[in-house]
Amino acid sequence: MSQISALPAIIREAGTIAMSYFKNLQSLAISKKTPRDLVTEADIAVERFLQRALRDAYPDYGFWGEESGQNADQRNRWIVDPIDGTHSFAKGQYFWSISVALELAGELTVGAVYVPTVDDLYYAVRGQGATKNSEPIHVSDEPRLSDAMIATGFACVRQNRPDNNLERFCRIALRTMGQRRFGSAAMDICMVADGQVDAFWEQSLNLYDVAAGALIAQEAGATVTDFQGRPGVFPDQILVTNGKLLDQLLPLM
Ligand code: IPD
Ligand code: CA
Ligand code: CA
Repeated sequence: MSQISALPAIIREAGTIAMSYFKNLQSLAISKKTPRDLVTEADIAVERFLQRALRDAYPDYGFWGEESGQNADQRNRWIVDPIDGTHSFAKGQYFWSISVALELAGELTVGAVYVPTVDDLYYAVRGQGATKNSEPIHVSDEPRLSDAMIATGFACVRQNRPDNNLERFCRIALRTMGQRRFGSAAMDICMVADGQVDAFWEQSLNLYDVAAGALIAQEAGATVTDFQGRPGVFPDQILVTNGKLLDQLLPLM
């Protein structure tokens, strides 16, 4: 996949744009898409940049971005979340990321997730393994749920769902050594990929939240399934594990 070699530089430049807003949060324009879903001028600026830069470098591929929607060609397309973790970003916290995936004929082929505050770039090409800052990464080898650290998230539409994840969270929290809620699903999934956490689940997400992270995690040896254990990338129910914890987590989902 040498023909997508411009992507790391493009996503890093997107990170520079995001950081220019992050350093001036007092003047950041913020609005609400729904009662719990924010969009800022940084989300819009980063997405505009990515759409233009990716089109200029790869004119054959379509585009689907969280903030601007889908353009005509959706068979081969970029899938972009310009800032995943907008609430964290707007509060001045460190945990947010930029997520870019390339899907070709329905198959996730390239994934890049960049965390600008710590300058971590996670990257994967299908069949070629996953890296963080160009070094190979792999999931943890933690075999016991009772010793594991697990991350989750709570969808911004949770008040409209009969299953709001709170019972599942309580059930699992009683069985693990630690829980985290970082606030960026794309980054959470990459943290499973490099063993910083042992598993992650969330529900009611969109493909742009998880596409890049899921490929990076798979290439790093993770299982990516729904809550019944079916392999695949299901944004409505995503469970990412180091593999050894899958059978212990499934009955708790
Ligand atoms: C959100 C983040 C968060 C998750 C929410 C998502 P956004 O994305 O991924 O971790 O819990 O469900 O909506 O809105 O910041 O791009
Ligand atoms: Ca998101
Ligand atoms: Ca977003």
